[in-house]
Amino acid sequence: MGIARFSEQWIERVKSSADIVEVIGRRVELRQSGKNYVGLCPFHSEKTPSFTVNPEKQFYHCFGCGKGGNVINFVMDTENLAFPEAVVKLAQEKGIPVPAASPGEQRREKEREQLRQVNQLAARYYYRNLRLPAGAQARAYLQGRGIGQELARSFFLGFALDEWDGLLAFLTAQGVDPAIAQAAGLVTSSKRGFIDRFRGRLMFPICDHLGRFVGFGGRSIGDAQPKYLNTGQTLVFNKGQILYGLNWSKEDIKAQDQVVIVEGYTDLISLFAVGQRNVVASLGTAFTSAHARLLRRFCSQAVIAFDGDTAGQRAAWRGMEVLHASGLQVRVASLTGGEDPDTFARTQGVEAVRVWLNTARPFREYQIDRIISQHDVETREGKLAASTELVTLLAQLTSAVERDEYIHYAAERLGVREDSLAAEVGRRLGIAGVSRVQNRRNHRRGTKRRRALEQPMEAGEDLREREVLRYLLQEPDLLREVQARGVTAQDFQDPDYRHVFISLSESISDERGTAIASKLLSLPPPGASWEECLESFLAVLKRRRLRKIEEKLSLLENDREGFDVRMELYQLLKEYYGICRDDSY
Ligand code: UTP
Ligand code: MN
Repeated sequence: MGIARFSEQWIERVKSSADIVEVIGRRVELRQSGKNYVGLCPFHSEKTPSFTVNPEKQFYHCFGCGKGGNVINFVMDTENLAFPEAVVKLAQEKGIPVPAASPGEQRREKEREQLRQVNQLAARYYYRNLRLPAGAQARAYLQGRGIGQELARSFFLGFALDEWDGLLAFLTAQGVDPAIAQAAGLVTSSKRGFIDRFRGRLMFPICDHLGRFVGFGGRSIGDAQPKYLNTGQTLVFNKGQILYGLNWSKEDIKAQDQVVIVEGYTDLISLFAVGQRNVVASLGTAFTSAHARLLRRFCSQAVIAFDGDTAGQRAAWRGMEVLHASGLQVRVASLTGGEDPDTFARTQGVEAVRVWLNTARPFREYQIDRIISQHDVETREGKLAASTELVTLLAQLTSAVERDEYIHYAAERLGVREDSLAAEVGRRLGIAGVSRVQNRRNHRRGTKRRRALEQPMEAGEDLREREVLRYLLQEPDLLREVQARGVTAQDFQDPDYRHVFISLSESISDERGTAIASKLLSLPPPGASWEECLESFLAVLKRRRLRKIEEKLSLLENDREGFDVRMELYQLLKEYYGICRDDSY
């Protein structure tokens, strides 16, 4: 059921017929205060009310935790529902007829259902093979990895025989059109016609969170490459949206308000085997905001349980940012010595697993410790290099409180003065204005230069700023995502927009901000999706940032004033190539 099923008008109709004060009033005791209603925020614990409901604008906002939105967002958040589910619930309460899916949508849903059914048939076929004489080698392999029969049954493990068309023949006998098996990613066409995609592999069926079969991971039990072959993208299988195991673990995740995230199928299975059942596996891909939103529906804390090497990689760090941006509290439980959660759980047992997960560190501490451990901070060069990396990390923290907190932590760990590190971070952020070097130059050259550093807006740039802001006003949750991508108030060149962005990120409201916000909210809805708006905004930022550094570099070019300049040059170049390489833009 996609959002596309409902027209804007219908959603508007539901929104306007549901009285936000009445809906919220069922959960929060509200009292009137001027034009607004206030109460204790249901999203964080507080003693004095900072949760405000505005009946005129039909939105709510908490000045304490920053949560806010319209009546649909409120139902989504308080009842763990996805957008379409929340609108339908409100519509039903109000007796508004829910539109039937369009013929196109019905056809697509039927197609998806067909693919899931074929996947389920295939799972049954693979499952049976594992119990045949021909599956002896796979059974021995499982035995060797400590996965007994019962465990294998719980996860519907199976075996793809080493044949060209075992599955194909089975499915055809069941009346399945090979074209559909192909669309499900189970067979591929080759010169000799259709052949099975998975051959001679141990099969892990992958379900969506509702327990519907959508794909497979197949592990080679010999030397065949790749080690794991997964279903490619299909109508029902998208690695960026699926988390392995969630169908089995969601109740435990909810009950413990915590999810443990591992990388591999076998990591998850071995943790289940020792009774740790609040686990999902990420299928070896980077975390997407779709993953994060899905998890956010079930819990508020995530523990990343990768082995030490992968947890230290920048791709994993980006995943942590994505999870953090969605509002999850993220901690890291790292392992060393080439161990992964699978081997750890099997060799160390229940108790050790519990201790290991309980000692998970907040992900920022983990990152800081990791940076420091990668340099020889006993030497001056090592310390300098570590501090440069730390400054980069710390300057990315968008909350001033969080930044101060971790500047303190990092300074202590690195053994440098806190104010020195804070000054470096401030310099990087441009908070203390331009750097000393820059200042001297501007003095000397007058104001002409300074003006050159301020960049003219290009056509369309203000539009990009505006569209992003409009989404932020409607869904304040997106703010964290934007901040995680390194966007700060300085990135909004239009002073009005910058003002609204600051108000949003600091949760302050004043007349000017409110006036601009309501003007923005009254415009027709953005023509592009959130993702598209954000991407094109980031593209603008990338261009602007590179241009800005180019300007600074050209200023420095002829300077011969020693260490300061060299350091600045080095930093600028590092930043420049960092931005060029950064594929998060
Ligand atoms: P790992 O290589 O850590 O897998 O990759 P693992 O689970 O420890 O594998 P075993 O213990 O050797 O069986 C983690 C995940 O990355 C994906 C798979 O989803 C795997 O579970 N992966 C890995 C692939 O998709 N393809 C590969 O070739 C390797
Ligand atoms: Mn492993």
